[in-house]
Formats: sequence, C-alpha cells, structure tokens
Amino acid sequence: MQNFGLDIWSNKNFIIENGEIKLNFKSMPSLLEITQNIRANDVKGPILLRFPHLIQKQIKTLYSYFDKAIKENNYQGSFNAVFPLKVNQFPSVIDAITEQGAKYNYGLEAGSKAELILAMSKTPKGANITVNGFKDKEMLTLAFIAAQSGHNITVTIEGLNELETIIAVASESSLKIPNIGIRVRLHSVGSGIWAKSGGMDAKFGLTSTEIIEAIKLLKSTKLLHRLSMIHFHIGSQIADIAPLKKALREAGNIYAELKKLGAEQLQNLNIGGGLAVEYDQHQASCSRNYSIDEFSSSVVFLLGEIMDAKNVQHPNIFTESGRFIVASHTVLITPVLELFTQDYQEHLLDFKDTNPPLITELIELNKLLNNANCIEYLHDALDHMESLFTLFDLGYIDLQDRSNAEILVHNIIKKALYLKSANPTNELEQLQSKLQERYLINASIFQSLPDYWGLGQHFPVMPIHHLNTTPLRAASLWDITCDSDGEIGFNPEKPLYLHDVNLDEEEYFLAFFNVGAYQETLGMNHNLFTHPNEYTINITDIDHQITNAIESKNILDILDSIGYESEVILNKLKSDLLKSSFITEQEKSDTLSKLETFLQQNGYLRTTN
Ligand SMILES: Cc1ncc(COP(=O)(O)O)c(C=O)c1O
Repeated sequence: MQNFGLDIWSNKNFIIENGEIKLNFKSMPSLLEITQNIRANDVKGPILLRFPHLIQKQIKTLYSYFDKAIKENNYQGSFNAVFPLKVNQFPSVIDAITEQGAKYNYGLEAGSKAELILAMSKTPKGANITVNGFKDKEMLTLAFIAAQSGHNITVTIEGLNELETIIAVASESSLKIPNIGIRVRLHSVGSGIWAKSGGMDAKFGLTSTEIIEAIKLLKSTKLLHRLSMIHFHIGSQIADIAPLKKALREAGNIYAELKKLGAEQLQNLNIGGGLAVEYDQHQASCSRNYSIDEFSSSVVFLLGEIMDAKNVQHPNIFTESGRFIVASHTVLITPVLELFTQDYQEHLLDFKDTNPPLITELIELNKLLNNANCIEYLHDALDHMESLFTLFDLGYIDLQDRSNAEILVHNIIKKALYLKSANPTNELEQLQSKLQERYLINASIFQSLPDYWGLGQHFPVMPIHHLNTTPLRAASLWDITCDSDGEIGFNPEKPLYLHDVNLDEEEYFLAFFNVGAYQETLGMNHNLFTHPNEYTINITDIDHQITNAIESKNILDILDSIGYESEVILNKLKSDLLKSSFITEQEKSDTLSKLETFLQQNGYLRTTN
C-alpha cells in the first residue's frame, strides 16, 4: 500500500487508518472529518489547518534534547531559544508559541521594526528578545524602549555603524541600554538551498578586524559591559551537519578570544537557526543527514570542548530555529476540481453501426482483458493504435473512429495497470508515467507554496482519503492561477501517484504538509488570490474543536488592499447594470444581489461549472 512517504516526513504526527489520514494524537480525528466539518458551513477553496499540539511537541523536543545534551556533557551553560518571527508572524501561531513556550522562557526574534513591535508586545517578561538584520536609529531606539520597559533584549549589530548609532542613542538619552550582540562573519558556509547566510561574502556580520574595532569602541565608550552575545547563522534548513560543526569551532574560538580581550559580561553564544525539517517523501532524497539528537549533542559537545581547551567558562547557548518549530503544525487542504483526462471516459465512446475492423478488435480486447492475458492484449492494443493513427493520417478513418480508438486504448492501459498493480512491469511503469493525469487543485501555488515556485522546494503531498486503494495515476498538479508556473509537474525521480476518481460522484482532497514555515507571509497575491481561510484545531481526548477561524479576504477587500476604492468599483458595476437594457427590473435587482454576494466571497473557485 502506498503511504506517500509518511514514515519519512511525518515524524509520527499522522497515521493512515481505514483509508484516511488521521492525526496521531488523543482522539485522532481524520483530516477528512475536520475538512468536512469546516466545509459544511459553505466554505469552498483551500483551507489551512493549524495544529497547536504540534507546536507544543516541537518546543518540547527542542528543549528536552538540548537539556539532555547539557546533562550528558556536563555542560555548565544554559540553553535558551527564541522564535524568529519572520518564519510565521500570524496571530494564532504566535499565540500558540508564547502560550506553549512560557514554561521554557521561550522568546522571540525580530528582524524588522514591525517584528520588533510585535516581539515587544508578545514576549513574556523574562524571556529573551533578540534583534537581527539591518537597523536604523529609530529601530535601535525601539530596542532601548524595550529594555527600558523591562524586556530582556539583545540587539545584534550587523556592522560598526550600528554600534556607533547605539552609542549615540545611549549618549542622548537615559533610557536603559539593551544588551549588545555581535554577528560574526564566519568563514564557514552552510549547505542546501538557503545556505547564503555564511561565508566571507555573506550579507551580514562583522569581520575579525571589525570585531576588534567594535571592542575598542565599546571599551572607549565604557559600554563593553553591555556586550553579552556573539551570534552567527549559516543558513536555514542546514542539510549537512559538517558545515555547522565547522562554524561552531570558528564561532567558539572567536567567543573565547573576545573573553580574553576583556569582554567579561559576554556570556551567550547564539547559533542562529538552521535546524532542518524533513520535506522529502522519497527515501533516496532526504532533506538532512542528522537528527535533533545529533544536532544538540554536536553543539553542546563542541562548545564545551573549545571552551575547556581555552580555559573559558561555557557560554549559554541560544538558538533561533523557527522552521523546526512551526513547519509541521500547518496542513494545506486543497479540493481537486477536475481531472483533465476525464475525456477518456468509456461513456464518451460513440460507436457506429459498422466500425473499422481494428476498432472492433479493440472493443473485444477491452471486453476480454484479464489478469492472464493483459500484457499480450496491451501489446495488441498499442499495435492497433499505431495502425489506426496511420489510417487516420491517410484519410481512411474519421475523427470519431480516432476518438473511439484513443478512449479504448486508454482504458486498456488503465485496466492493465490495475490488474498488474501488485507487480508492475517496466513497460507498464513507463506507460503509467506517460499516461499522466492533471489534477486541478483549488489553490494558488504562488499564495500557498511560494517556496515551490521560487526555489523548487518540495512539500509532502497526499490525498487525505482513499488510502486503502493503490493510486495508479501519475499525477501533475495544476493550480487555478492563469500562470503556467502554477504547476507541480510529474517528476519521475520523485513520482506522485493519485487516485482515479469520478468527481461528479465524490469529492477528492489533497493535503500539503509541513507548510507552516515561511509560506504564509512569503505567499503572494498573484491573480489576486489571497491567504486561504484558516482554522486552529484543538484536539482533546474525546473530540476536536475548530477555533480561531480567519476568513480569506473577499474580492472587495483585496481590491481595497492594493489601493482601489471598493465602494467606487461597486457603484460603477451597479450603475452599468442598472443602465443596461433588455432585462426586466426584477431581473436587474436579482442580478444586483447576486453580484453583491459574489463580491463578498473570496476569489477561489466554488464550482468548476
Ligand atoms: C538570523 C536568523 N536567525 C534565525 C533564522 C531562522 O532559521 P530557520 O529557518 O532555521 O528557522 C534565520 C533565517 O534565515 C535567520 O536569518
């Protein structure tokens, strides 16, 4: 049975039971049950489901593995973590993080003014705030205000000019000075598609010479006691642990050197983010070569070793991994609207009173195909098909004959695939990938899976039901944007097979997993499709509650958000309709109310016909 690589990417968060995918938690609701409950209220289009228990699980995992490594290595420093807001700033996510993280003193990281304001309003007192990215005087003043308001805030400087501005703000006001961190520009580079944050040509961080200058400046302005942290980040989604170890050695030694230069209050080493998530569904192409166990042990062991060798007290360890915390908690459910080769359905056959002899033979082959003869009959059918195409080119058969031949051969191949599904031959596998089905999904890849569009990042995808039958259709997925990039094509290296469903009779839903990190704010309104409806699902021992429903923006809202005046647009549409002729007043008023209803809905499709 196909399990869509569940054992590779799902971290035991989901299981398949009775043909459906279920949450592997407490009352174990199925995704289909949740989806149908939501859709019962006339919700159409894609939906985002958030599972806060999975955020809780990841926070607990992060802290418990580092605590274990600290105990095992007799490490003297503490472990601290902050959630980088850039990974997902949505309110339901941040509320879950601050609630679930409170007992660990889990803090927030900000990379812009807006994120800093969010961090200042959401970080529980006592938990850490770290600030990264380029900063102007205003943003640095905000950090002073945060410190003055009682926050435990560390501003990581990305260049000497930021330090000079901090010194200027400190001299101009008597606000409390925030802790100062220095981002170091490491020689070491990460690995994977996001590995651009390390290396000598990296966008961020101070070189050795600049670090020495910074220390001199801090000493001369009597602010060295505010230097509490050094920070590095070699990139998100680190695929290979080796570059991280190299970076730790480099940063660890810089830390020890700074202590020797008199930075007495320096006590924190921030290793940034990078802890990877498994996105792959196929064993041959896993996303990372380490576990959280290996990651935490390597960090703790290496830092302890370097400090012991240099006779320096062990620093407190900080991490800023956010992808690891939130990727798994969001599932995108997309209804399938159409299968494009439905035109090959048997009911579309239209025979003549007298058919060409090869068509009559195809009819017989289609009727008599069975397990024993299917390969032989398949070969006959393919042979007849070639001959029929030649006959068509020579003008001996007409378009109706050709259409009948295509449907019959298509059906014979499909039947052979089903009959041989337990033991497919090479030839059948090749035919299967040629006979691709295109599934039209009610979603926008640009809005909901931008990293697939921009970087080719694969996200695990599977149907949420029908899982007790083997899917046999090689599938490519088309979204509803009118852009040819809005497609996830069939990849024979990482094949996706889906079910042959008759959408006139039943619904078919696909789920994309691990979409909780970065996708939502990176998502764009291409074609003016908006963030889908989202729901938080709280699972208890007996049932589940659907809470925090946030509706997708409606058509007028989205026009408003890009600068149109929706009132003006609505009035123009109304007056054009009212001025029109040839329909009755009653019809005009019915059409007007229909129009108003349409505009109050989001732009996703409600039906395909
Ligand atoms: C400085 C910094 N910290 C943390 C992160 C988050 O890392 P991750 O994607 O592993 O959550 C990033 C992201 O690139 C970053 O630039």
